[in-house]
Amino acid sequence: MQDKIPLGLNRTGLKASPLIAKDLLEVMDLQDSTPMPAIDATALRLAYREQAETVGSVPPPTNLKGMLGATKEAVMGHKLHVFLDKLGERAAFERTGVRLYDAMLTKLKDADPDLLPPGLSPAAVREIRDDEATHFALVADAIERLGGDATTQTPCADVAGVQGQGLTQVMNDPRTTTSQALNTLLAAELIDVASWELLIELADGFGQDEMVSQFNHALARELEHEQRVRGWLSSALAQNALGRDAGTMPQ
Ligand SMILES: [Fe+2]
Repeated sequence: MQDKIPLGLNRTGLKASPLIAKDLLEVMDLQDSTPMPAIDATALRLAYREQAETVGSVPPPTNLKGMLGATKEAVMGHKLHVFLDKLGERAAFERTGVRLYDAMLTKLKDADPDLLPPGLSPAAVREIRDDEATHFALVADAIERLGGDATTQTPCADVAGVQGQGLTQVMNDPRTTTSQALNTLLAAELIDVASWELLIELADGFGQDEMVSQFNHALARELEHEQRVRGWLSSALAQNALGRDAGTMPQ
């Protein structure tokens, strides 16, 4: 695995080619002085929005208990399907989390343990990966307990899946470094923490005390994940940018 960003012939910046840069700036000036009938991207997007439907829907409860629960909540002005949609989203993102850490385990297979940040090991990564899998099962169980179908791809689950594609792509790119992978995992963990916090508020609003307790436990684990990944990234950056020896860095 590549662990260091090399100095090289990157020619993407304007200053790498002053002559071409001059031409480019001249074209930009020309465009400013003679505006072309360019496509109005905003108008185009608004036109699409007028015709667009939502990203899927949430199916009604699949059993009598779920139907009764939804009816009871509706009497209080609560919309159970919104809660089920967010639970579906959490399940989707936790599943993505498992894939992200699986990809990290693959990256670590050919890494030199002496060059890794202190504490970063396959065992530590597997522990977090297994937490994400446990969280997925916890959310799936919560959906079923509310009378939903845990195999449903809800609208928010669909959106979370698309969001996760970028993260998964970076993790599975053979060129990405340890630091870039850790940065990607940190983004996922920050989403995890905020999303569990929001889900706990919703579960509390629906009076689901047992879920609140279980979700708080999951949140505590996610906070630990975030701290650990952030620490590994901090050490990796100090090693790469400041030349500090991995063995002498604080954990
Ligand atoms: Fe996590």
